[in-house]
Amino acid sequence: MCGIIGYTGSENVKEILLDALELLEYRGYDSAGIAVRSRGMQQVSVYKCAGRVSDLREVCAQAGSGTERVPGSPGQNDGAFARTAGCGIGHTRWATHGGVSDANAHPHQVGAVTLVHNGIIENYRELIADYDLEGDLVSDTDTEVAAALLNRFYEGDPHEAIRKTVAKLRGTFALVVMFADQGDVIYTTRNVSPVVATLCDQGAMLASDLTALCRFTNRYFVVPEYHILELRSDAVRLTDFDGNEVEPEYLTADWELNSAGKNGYPFYMEKEIMEQPQAIADTIEERVLGGLPDFSADGVPDELFTDCERICIIACGTARHAGLVAQALVKSILHMHIEVEMASEFMYSDPVIDQKTLVLAVSQSGETIDTLEAVKYARRRGAKCLSVINVRGSSIARESDYVLYTNAGPEIAVASTKAYTTQLAVFYLIVARMALLRGVFTTEETQSYIRELQRTPDAIGEVLKKKRDIHVVAGKLLGAKDLFMVGRGLDYSILLEGSLKLKEVSYIHSEAYASGELKHGPIALITQDTPVVASVTQEKLMSKELSNIKEVRSRGADVVIFIKESIAGSLEEEYELIKLPDMRDEFMVMPASAALQLLAYYVSSDKGFDVDKPRNLAKVVTVE
Ligand code: F6R
Repeated sequence: MCGIIGYTGSENVKEILLDALELLEYRGYDSAGIAVRSRGMQQVSVYKCAGRVSDLREVCAQAGSGTERVPGSPGQNDGAFARTAGCGIGHTRWATHGGVSDANAHPHQVGAVTLVHNGIIENYRELIADYDLEGDLVSDTDTEVAAALLNRFYEGDPHEAIRKTVAKLRGTFALVVMFADQGDVIYTTRNVSPVVATLCDQGAMLASDLTALCRFTNRYFVVPEYHILELRSDAVRLTDFDGNEVEPEYLTADWELNSAGKNGYPFYMEKEIMEQPQAIADTIEERVLGGLPDFSADGVPDELFTDCERICIIACGTARHAGLVAQALVKSILHMHIEVEMASEFMYSDPVIDQKTLVLAVSQSGETIDTLEAVKYARRRGAKCLSVINVRGSSIARESDYVLYTNAGPEIAVASTKAYTTQLAVFYLIVARMALLRGVFTTEETQSYIRELQRTPDAIGEVLKKKRDIHVVAGKLLGAKDLFMVGRGLDYSILLEGSLKLKEVSYIHSEAYASGELKHGPIALITQDTPVVASVTQEKLMSKELSNIKEVRSRGADVVIFIKESIAGSLEEEYELIKLPDMRDEFMVMPASAALQLLAYYVSSDKGFDVDKPRNLAKVVTVE
């Protein structure tokens, strides 16, 4: 959570920081701030406010229109000043300690230190007491305590002050610091919370994630934990805490430089929904050889799939919902013992994990701290961990034994869409590979399964063409306060995700329920004011699902059914239907999910909400 940027170089610092913060805003958007210093100047100026980056732009514009000019930005008659810009750091916040206010926004400045922070300093109260810092503080944040402590330890040697400070901190942190007397040098260090950095034509920069860098370069490195990185306009220097120089390990992002833009769509969420056919094809095709699933290019050995006796999937939110679909596939095809664990509960639930357990961790960002900690725990217990991740080089990827990357490209909208369906694509591949290796499928059966998987991009493409019909259905839900989504088996799993999508972007209270379970309590809530969305895609469950749908209809609920086309029959006369292209039942998750994503999207956009940035949320959840 929280977006961080640091830049030192010859470009317009203020613009680089503000543009980057806009790209990082999905990590947190309740306040924003920058600190800038022009080359050769002593003073570091801070501009910050509660609100969005657009509000911060206003603050900077106002500062620039008076006698004060924001350093690092061009003056009206000052071309040379514009070219020799200097350095700066910036932050977009998701509040943890201290409410949303101008004072609590980062950067925090105490004495010689100006600092932004991502993470949580757990022992901030003790630090205030132990070092008598109260008098230095003007905000309610844990971050300012770190700034004050750093300032207390600073006697002209940034490395020493950083080391001393970090030794006293408990918690997770990425700290990015400018010292008043250190010219245009930026320093960073971290524990758990990620920082990536690069040296490119425009200068040196760092960020909490790649999104902010990939406008400039696709080469970057991950700053290792408990190291210090120094950024200068023409060099980067990485050292460990003993002062030894360490060579940064550069990686290449395979995301296109402009793929983090909106491409003409009003919201990233719509763009990302529309990108799914390509993202899924990109995820599948490089892993199909002779019609069979193949992970040799990923370096994943077959023994991983043959030696295990049980599977444990660990994930949060949408990624966990992808895991629930995988659970259904593993049970029905592989007949293996499998559990899907909420990463945040995992360590406290006495999980049954050993050397015979294959742990599958699922995460778009690769940074979700609950999932990261659960992976570490499982590996300590002897399990092998294969992760399904979108962001290369992310923390969970680095902690795992093996990784299968989803090739979804950057996902910016807070509500996850293409990451989910590409995670599903990877699970279909894993299940097929395991079925082949464990003798459950013949070669021909595996090939036929993979051929069906390869049809999913087109099936989703068909759904996307129906976006107008789905928009019309969305229009009928705008006034709902509460809503139920009902289905059985895989339909229930699909709806858990559909319901999460709807509630997070539209703020309608939506509950997914296994439809057979409704009559054991929740049906008491069904009235004519409670619309019901049903999913009917599993032929063998259809008649029972329809009986449950009739039960809610009889209680006055308006029902819309997302249904596999070939089984819709004459239901159209009775119900509002969205027909989904036919696939084998176990693959219907793909078209159905895309349809439900569009439903959530249109409800939110028609209500006039900021679809990409739902209230209270952030894209990357790095607090427990
Ligand atoms: C919902 C959503 C979240 C994430 C969850 C895990 O749309 O995006 O529920 O799925 O926070 O995030 P990752 O996949 O990054 O671990």
